[in-house]
Amino acid sequence: MAIKPIVKMGDPLLLRVAEPISPEEFGSPGLMALIEDLKDTMVAMNGAGIAAPQIGVSKQITIFGGFKSPRYPDAEVVPYTILCNPVLTPIGDEMADDWEGCLSVPGMRGMVPRALRLHYKGVDEQGLVIDRTVEGFHARVAQHECDHLFGVLYPMRIKDMRLFGFNDVLMPGLPVED
Ligand code: NI
Repeated sequence: MAIKPIVKMGDPLLLRVAEPISPEEFGSPGLMALIEDLKDTMVAMNGAGIAAPQIGVSKQITIFGGFKSPRYPDAEVVPYTILCNPVLTPIGDEMADDWEGCLSVPGMRGMVPRALRLHYKGVDEQGLVIDRTVEGFHARVAQHECDHLFGVLYPMRIKDMRLFGFNDVLMPGLPVED
């Protein structure tokens, strides 16, 4: 389909709670086209994931995983996932800190505390149930991407703003194409 322009932080669209995907949309050509646009854009931008609001569509759908992002060279490969209308439930209260970036916040990184273990439930593009218990990087990516569907960007989650800055200063060795 097409590589779409990324909506960047500062745009109020990224602060909205997105509309759930309605039952009649599952399996529809419109939803499939949206997923192709998300995939093309994520791959072109080397993202670990992407959410529909980031390409200007305020709907509760995100895709993530499927390949090793050069922006997260040490992370496990998360299975390719298309997730609609998610509900996230942290398991326990153990948190983990790690660096995150975002296509909507280009050139920057921040240290973000996330629930280490997570249960998430939603449906795929056909409306089939996805029900997973995950941890580590998979849990982090799911939390980051689903946050986009509820109007939250990772800088809003940073606890120590001293650990927020530009990629080329914080991590001079890493690719900085975001
Ligand atoms: Ni993001």
